[in-house]
Amino acid sequence: MSRRPLMAGNWKMHKTIEEAVQLANALKEALAKLNDRDALVCPPFTSLSSVSEILKGSSVFLGAQNMNDNVQGAFTGEVSPVMLKDAGCSFVILGHSERRQYYSETSALVNQKCRLALAQGLTPIVCVGEKLDERESGKTFDVIKTQTKESLNNLSSEQLKSTVIAYEPVWAIGTGKTATPAQAQEVHSFVRQLINETYGESVAASVRILYGGSVKPDNIDSLMAQPDIDGGLVGGASLKAGDFVRLVNFQVPCNC
Ligand code: PGA
Repeated sequence: MSRRPLMAGNWKMHKTIEEAVQLANALKEALAKLNDRDALVCPPFTSLSSVSEILKGSSVFLGAQNMNDNVQGAFTGEVSPVMLKDAGCSFVILGHSERRQYYSETSALVNQKCRLALAQGLTPIVCVGEKLDERESGKTFDVIKTQTKESLNNLSSEQLKSTVIAYEPVWAIGTGKTATPAQAQEVHSFVRQLINETYGESVAASVRILYGGSVKPDNIDSLMAQPDIDGGLVGGASLKAGDFVRLVNFQVPCNC
């Protein structure tokens, strides 16, 4: 089964509304027609509705970087999935390592958010990834297994098919140290095998697994050439139109 590649830009805490609008305009123009791949941008909350207006009718999707695990209520400073839909989002990033590390998000909370996002019609991008000391002490697969199982706990097959997973080794995020294509592939294939064990082959074959961590124009093609890498979750290189367009337009060398 072929999975449609997805290139997702995580703008993190960058860009004023004016800057976001400028970047969105440039992307809309350069990525006018995407036939065999998806592109997604995830600006900060403050720019979502302005960027949504620009992207209307384009092939670039809009997503948020986080959401609350409630629909509404007295949760000062939080943003609900209903508000994200209202602002034009169809995706939401959940459990990014920066949320886990700086805001103490646990996989149990990520799971709650994930189920609520799905119930509200948003596509969750659930992030998992090991830290440097975990990799160096040989715990990568244990960490990935626990995070994946707990974050995706109790999803139905249909729900899992509508979920995107992002493998982002924490040591590779924003550091310029990308995992080698082989290192990334090894973990992607492990995650797909985990899904296979619980949900069977057809679900496992249909779930998109993105790689994140210093994805750049000069490494995207070799990452995308790996059989279990279905796209990228990109921070730094998504902030410049030219770089992000190049990532979306990745080319896998043909082995024909
Ligand atoms: P980076 O960030 O591309 O700047 O390493 C990736 C991410 O955090 O999603």
